[in-house]
Amino acid sequence: MNNSNNKQKKVSHLKDKYDRRIDYLRISITDKCNLKCIYCSPEKALKHFNTNEILTDEEIIRFLRVAHGHGLSKVRITGGEPLLRKNITGLITTIRKTGIRDLSLTTNGLMLGSLARKLKDAGLKRVNISLDTLDADRYEGITRGGNIALVWKAIKASESAGLTPVKINVVPIRGLNDDEIESFASLTYDNNFHIRFIEFMPAVGDGMWASDKYVKSDQVLKKISALGKLEPFKFRGNGPSRNFRLKGAKGVIGIISPLSDHFCKHCNRLRLTANGRLRPCLFSKETIDIKTPMRNGISDEQLEELFLQSVNAKPRGHGLQDKHIKSGLIPAMSEIGG
Ligand code: 5AD
Repeated sequence: MNNSNNKQKKVSHLKDKYDRRIDYLRISITDKCNLKCIYCSPEKALKHFNTNEILTDEEIIRFLRVAHGHGLSKVRITGGEPLLRKNITGLITTIRKTGIRDLSLTTNGLMLGSLARKLKDAGLKRVNISLDTLDADRYEGITRGGNIALVWKAIKASESAGLTPVKINVVPIRGLNDDEIESFASLTYDNNFHIRFIEFMPAVGDGMWASDKYVKSDQVLKKISALGKLEPFKFRGNGPSRNFRLKGAKGVIGIISPLSDHFCKHCNRLRLTANGRLRPCLFSKETIDIKTPMRNGISDEQLEELFLQSVNAKPRGHGLQDKHIKSGLIPAMSEIGG
């Protein structure tokens, strides 16, 4: 078989039932975090997985090799806080050796200032940094103790290491930080940041989610439009994010609407939880365990089957109507990696 046939075969394997190309995996590599953001985790410590419940580096690599063989090309490392994982740079080096080229990581940034260069050298391409306010005291409050100065240090270090464009994740919550939407958007005038506004999802936290707390994407766009003309901005492989640029701005604004719309039909991803379960959709009730079968000695072909099974299990959409959305609908983000 020649190369082009090979390629065709790979692509067709990665289409799901609804003709969406699935080429992106988010892996949570730890459920531990060094912050306890009020909308993400409860104040009382969550019970964490024991070390032996978490996928080992070797198990992650084995799965990625198999998935890469079916055209998986993009991986995002998440947590918890992924930089808490031992030997993170070593893991990144080995992931790159599987052939995965587009490797990025989502972090709160606290430990990134001193690690950015090492991560880049190991083969990391980009980072997403979570930052929900520009105010130091408010940051300390939202994160239950975080120091915003470390996040800015991380942003600068990432830029100079070339982990770019730096993407900043903002979850607007009414009454908490929705008065800062314009300030975040304005950062794009002088900085080549991608500011990504993510709708507040009803994950297990302190039961904080409520329909009047989540700011719908169209409300976010309305506020930003008051700053200047918003032009659609297209770039490759952007998944469910809708992207715009304020006229004359250097950076990009991304709008991610898991609840209100525009999301599922562009879904290109699967998730792998820290304890080794494939989650076909953020809202899936059913997950597919790959850890136990791997530890029981399954073959690569059987592992491949589990991968394809999870692609096949992707629903057309989460199908949630506004009135059915309630707090705690999805597990803690620390487990499933946001
Ligand atoms: N809704 C939306 N985004 C969330 N995140 C964490 N919890 C939620 C939630 N309930 C985001 C974080 C981080 C990413 C991994 O997930 O802000 O940027």
